[in-house]
Amino acid sequence: MANILIFDSGMGGLSVYRELSQTLTGHQYLYLFDNAYFPYGELSESRLVARVVELFRSFVIQHSVDIAVIACNTASTHVLPALRECLTIPIVGVVPAIKPAAEYSRQYQTVGKPAHIGLLATPGTVSRHYTAELVQSFAADLQVSMLGTTELVTMAEDKLAGQAVDLERLQQILALWSNEEGPDTLVLGCTHFPLLAAEISQCLPQVKLIDSGAAIARRVNHLLLELPITQVLALQHQQGRLFCTATTKKALQQARAFSKEGFGELNCFVP
Ligand code: DGL
Repeated sequence: MANILIFDSGMGGLSVYRELSQTLTGHQYLYLFDNAYFPYGELSESRLVARVVELFRSFVIQHSVDIAVIACNTASTHVLPALRECLTIPIVGVVPAIKPAAEYSRQYQTVGKPAHIGLLATPGTVSRHYTAELVQSFAADLQVSMLGTTELVTMAEDKLAGQAVDLERLQQILALWSNEEGPDTLVLGCTHFPLLAAEISQCLPQVKLIDSGAAIARRVNHLLLELPITQVLALQHQQGRLFCTATTKKALQQARAFSKEGFGELNCFVP
């Protein structure tokens, strides 16, 4: 059994947790969300890296984390090198699935229409050098369009908190893609967005949605097999353990949604 940390600014990591927990059972899951600094998509790169490194340095040691999943594209596209420099545990990042989307788009492209992929992510992720490099490496021959939005991040959180999704507003946000020239394949490049996949598909019915969740589960599984876990620990907590960085009214509401996914009571972690 391993202590697997899932980390995000908010509830987006749940889309990754759902994939992991389906295939990787019998492990202790810890979920840390940095609501004190939410939304990450609006933070400068220097603040983001300083914050995530600060959190990880103490959390990983205090909670004996064996493997960490940065279930946040906004963080993964920038902070992984700094994190790997200061930690020795395996760290799995979640980055936009440009490569599989490009492969899909090339394969299923409609005759007479150029292959076109869209990237739906946060403002931070679409502006990253790392993202530009992904496009250059795997989709340089395709039309690629990007949309960075924080509004959709909030919409996903509100949906999990039980609010109805405003489909009309979602349609407006996605309007630039809901025409003939729009993408055939759309990368959900923010872990919050698979939580809205049904609604996004309603707005863009012809478009294939692709996210990184299943690939991350395979990667974690592979790394777990290599982990030198010498001690077989008895499962201390049947439920997942939940941590926020600020105990707010919203965090307490969010904890209710997490409890439906198998997490226990909310704890506050301040580095
Ligand atoms: N869930 C995060 C991601 O995958 C970001 C949300 C935020 O802006 O905080 O990028």
